[in-house]
Amino acid sequence: MEHLIDPFARPISYLRVSVTDRCDFRCTYCMAEHMQFLPKKDLLTLEELDRMCSTFIGLGVEKLRITGGEPLVRRDILTFFRAMSRHLESGALKELTLTTNGSQLARFAGDLAAAGVRRVNVSLDTLDADKFAAITRWGRLPQVLEGIRAATAVGLKVKINAVALKGFNEEELFRLVDWCGGEGHELTFIEVMPMGEMGEELRLDQYWPLKDLRARLAERFTLVDLAERSGGPARYVRLKETGQKIGFITPLTHNFCESCNRVRLTCTGELYMCLGQEDMADLRAPLRASPDDAVLEAAIRAAIARKPKGHDFDYSRQRVAGQMTRHMSHTGG
Ligand code: GTP
Ligand code: 5AD
Ligand code: SF4
Repeated sequence: MEHLIDPFARPISYLRVSVTDRCDFRCTYCMAEHMQFLPKKDLLTLEELDRMCSTFIGLGVEKLRITGGEPLVRRDILTFFRAMSRHLESGALKELTLTTNGSQLARFAGDLAAAGVRRVNVSLDTLDADKFAAITRWGRLPQVLEGIRAATAVGLKVKINAVALKGFNEEELFRLVDWCGGEGHELTFIEVMPMGEMGEELRLDQYWPLKDLRARLAERFTLVDLAERSGGPARYVRLKETGQKIGFITPLTHNFCESCNRVRLTCTGELYMCLGQEDMADLRAPLRASPDDAVLEAAIRAAIARKPKGHDFDYSRQRVAGQMTRHMSHTGG
């Protein structure tokens, strides 16, 4: 079977799948406080998700990341992880992983590890309990820390994702770095992207360019650039003094689209060819139209043939350009 290659000669080997648009948190940069969620009947069933992912894997996808919303609030999601582990066993899939807010990890860590998950990315922007409650609106820090401990205890590697937010976690930079170093977690910072309907002024106010964050880090540590990649957009450095790894995801200050290897499937079967563009392809219709996977495959290939060069996010000139009206929870980041 010919593997998926986009119009810019980029092999598509990484599928991110949002299994629900729901979440038990309401992070201010991700969701509105009162979200209109999709009716359950619009969601792909777990069987349909399986068929969708398996078809992509047949077309050369080697890395599957489950996202949301919060993926672990989808009912019976373990059944889906267990089903996907057959592709790990066959060798077709190299990595099965998830991005989670950590709230349910204490309950699920053991079963996820048993299903073949080796690494989890946990979103955690602050270690201050009050700030955590403020930014997530509904989240509570101790629950997440317990989840992270549970994951570590069953041998899952944890990567902490922190959105860099000016005036919010700026003062906590070294606290986050020290805590991750002590606990043995990788830490990755992300530049905040214009997703959802947050006003332009607020968005610009909270934007903390990672080149500034990096400069702050360099005041205390010697940063050694690493060539290694994890299959995502992060670039890594090692802190010479502690040996720990820090990642930077810089959609604004350094565009990484030229090496993009991924597409995103929403919980209703829409395929977004780029996080930062509106174009998408409905894969639910071809999936439901025929039990023959050839129909779905043709729809996937047609979608990949439309993959754009990259996003148009831009905050220079004190304006927000490239804004997406959909929320991050729709495509899972
Ligand atoms: P690993 O490298 O495997 O750890 O994964 P990853 O960095 O791809 O996954 P993760 O879910 O940790 O991604 C972190 C965040 O990076 C996402 O939530 C997005 O905010 C951002 N991101 C990931 N992929 C893209 C992309 O293709 N374009 C843009 N603009 N941002 C991305
Ligand atoms: N910009 C950058 N990252 C975001 N995330 C959510 N919304 C945004 C945004 N507007 C991150 C979360 C989580 C991942 C799924 O996406 O913090 O790490
Ligand atoms: Fe939920 Fe993650 Fe969005 Fe926060 S960033 S509201 S945890 S989906």
